[in-house]
Amino acid sequence: MKAAVTPGTRFLPLPMAQARPNREPIVVSSDEAPKVHIWQIGCQMNSADADSLAEGFSEIGLRPGAALEEADLAVLVTCAVRQHAEDKASGKLGELAAWKQARPGRAIALTGCMVGEHGGNLLKRFRHLDYVFDMREPDGFFARVRDLYQGALQGPIPLPASDRLFAYLPVILGCNEMCTYCIVPFVRGREASRPADEVVTEARRLVERGVVEITLLGQNVNSYWDADSDAGLPELMARVDRTPGLKRMRFLTSHPRNASPDLLAAIAELPTACEHLHLPVQSGSDSCLRRMKREYSVAEYLRTLAAARRRVPNISLSTDIIVGFCGETDSEFEETMSVLREVEFDTVHIQAYSPRPGTAAYRRVDDVPRPVKSQRLQRVLELQRSISRRRNEALVGSRVEVLVEGRGADGRVFGRTRQNRIVWSDRVLEPGTVADLEVTSATAWQLTAG
Ligand code: SAH
Ligand code: SF4
Ligand code: F3S
Repeated sequence: MKAAVTPGTRFLPLPMAQARPNREPIVVSSDEAPKVHIWQIGCQMNSADADSLAEGFSEIGLRPGAALEEADLAVLVTCAVRQHAEDKASGKLGELAAWKQARPGRAIALTGCMVGEHGGNLLKRFRHLDYVFDMREPDGFFARVRDLYQGALQGPIPLPASDRLFAYLPVILGCNEMCTYCIVPFVRGREASRPADEVVTEARRLVERGVVEITLLGQNVNSYWDADSDAGLPELMARVDRTPGLKRMRFLTSHPRNASPDLLAAIAELPTACEHLHLPVQSGSDSCLRRMKREYSVAEYLRTLAAARRRVPNISLSTDIIVGFCGETDSEFEETMSVLREVEFDTVHIQAYSPRPGTAAYRRVDDVPRPVKSQRLQRVLELQRSISRRRNEALVGSRVEVLVEGRGADGRVFGRTRQNRIVWSDRVLEPGTVADLEVTSATAWQLTAG
């Protein structure tokens, strides 16, 4: 039986940093700086958080980027969006028990969205966990780390010369929407936009360090608003676009309600803005959307996509779908299938509904049986596989602009088109360069080009 919970009330005040009281001072045996291993799961926001943690550790004199076997401190950046994500973090924590025992002085810290949900209770649940801290307030944790490692710190350690070509740049934190299934507003808090000047400065810094593609991030990125400079996302994009040396710019994730004509104009007109729009629809049924509190109708959503295709003819479209939400009937599910057939997205991310404690939907019965959820998931996957294959095959013979990312295990290079399609090639091309290639073959998930 699930407890009846009012959204938000079961969440504990977020701790700055909680440590087990009996934690002994850490003794690092070698005379090298303590090494940190950062494990991460979840969305792009967590990738950005893991990067900024690594920078923070370098500043106070620890060495981030270590493999687990050689690390002194393991930090888990967790996700709470579905039970599966939490289970993975719990599994990882389980594995770390033996790792910690293998060498005295090792420690384990946990941050990310599971902290927003469970707070310091995690310390009771996992006896070998040493710290939990709120990712939005890492200073308290860094202060403790400084105290504990004291003499062993060798800071600040310069960040290793980066060969990173791609970076996520958070521009708006939190979410003010209250989609009934979603835990994100509870664990990430309310929306707070960063000043545009700060974003522009950070974009420059990233490009100076070798980054060629920046993705502006937010749970609801298109509600970005900087009151001081009167800038919404399109204006911010126009400023980031002018960063000298930047080759490509993307943004994630947009709410369908805020996909404005100005945003489409920014995609169409700014040289670095990539022709790709990720616009999660979640369901193709109005009644289901109402239960999800998504605040748009299927017709409105379709009109937005039509406007996007008119304004940016070569735009690629992707979406997120949840199958098996509370009360989803066969016919509501069929409506989702129809929308997928009608729109023909390039890619679709599909998830089975996972009840999240504290959300409004948690009070409803999770009544779609598991086998029905997985059958619906399979049907969406199969349909989308054929659509994606058809759309990719239509590109065979055309030329695409590929930004080279790296080399696969077989020596072939791979990269992505402006529309975010993955391309493999036998050509000898350096990561970070842009090449104009002809598509020679296609599958549902990738292109091959010569
Ligand atoms: N802010 C973004 C995405 C947030 S979470 C948006 O509004 O779309 C990323 C995706 O996880 C969501 O798009 C949704 O498809 C999925 N998701 C969120 N909560 C979920 C839940 N309880 N069960 C299953 N999938 C969920
Ligand atoms: Fe969750 Fe909805 Fe906010 Fe996206 S817009 S993060 S789905 S509450
Ligand atoms: Fe997960 Fe938190 Fe992102 S719940 S999806 S890591 S915002």
